[in-house]
Amino acid sequence: MIDRSISDELIAKGREFMKGYHDGTPYLEEYESDQDLKLPQPPLVKTPMADESARTKLPMDFDALPMKNDLVSLIRDRKSNRIFTQQPLSLLQLSFLLWATQGIKSIRGKSYATLRTVPCGGARHQYEAYLLIRQVEGLQPGAYHYLPMEHAIEFLHPVEDLEGAINDSLSGQRWAAKAAVVFYWAMDAYRVEWRYGIYAHRVALIDSGHIGQNLYLACTGLGIGTCAIAAFRHDVCNEIFGLDGTNEFVVYTAPVGTVRPEDLKEEQAFYKFVEEQGL
Ligand SMILES: Cc1cc2nc3c(=O)[nH]c(=O)nc-3n(C[C@H](O)[C@H](O)[C@H](O)COP(=O)(O)O)c2cc1C
Repeated sequence: MIDRSISDELIAKGREFMKGYHDGTPYLEEYESDQDLKLPQPPLVKTPMADESARTKLPMDFDALPMKNDLVSLIRDRKSNRIFTQQPLSLLQLSFLLWATQGIKSIRGKSYATLRTVPCGGARHQYEAYLLIRQVEGLQPGAYHYLPMEHAIEFLHPVEDLEGAINDSLSGQRWAAKAAVVFYWAMDAYRVEWRYGIYAHRVALIDSGHIGQNLYLACTGLGIGTCAIAAFRHDVCNEIFGLDGTNEFVVYTAPVGTVRPEDLKEEQAFYKFVEEQGL
């Protein structure tokens, strides 16, 4: 019989974490973050990891993308898709997904904060986007890193067994290995801890949800599919992208791919049924 006291303790810790430690404890009441202590602010984005020659500038002519853009339909039709038809994405489609999830719109102050397409507690924007690319027109398959300041991606390295790597990193969710591209969002922890310290991690997790939802909505607009994934292997993900797993580690992932038209229509049929039945 497994010792439930250990899991009970972990559950209690999880609940405390979710409550954000705002419980009147004197130590916590007096706590000051590194920003409060006037320590220097960490950089707004990660330094490029590869040589400049490995960079692909991403196109931004999103008006050229055939896209559903009525908000009611986007919200209504958003759903998780797990059956991918393995057509390649265009570079413009990938560019749009990266912009929609982490794109920078402006910089506030003297490099004090980036303002992006997603909201973020304290505008710390502590996430770095990494990609395993299988099928994007004009791009060599392999591991990539998004550079939001330049709106570019940098090629990190080829991956010998790409489908195996996707499968292993996503805890054996085999359907995901047919995606055209898999997004991995890693938290650069100190970027948000500098400001929020012990309160940073709960805020950061909430932030990741906005990124995921924007990916869903952007995919819905483009008529392609995605599915948020939290059941992934930290160790495998971190190793693929050369992350130390302590200061920077993957928090959220999402495969994206082309889907059967009927899979996009499924929910519409459901809503029609609801309307017809007057439910
Ligand atoms: C944080 C989060 C983690 C998820 N993790 C997984 C996952 O590991 N595997 C999976 O197949 N679906 C995963 N999903 C997708 C959910 O199962 C899906 O959103 C839910 O069943 C509702 O379906 P819908 O998105 O089509 O509305 C996840 C969704 C979220 C938001």
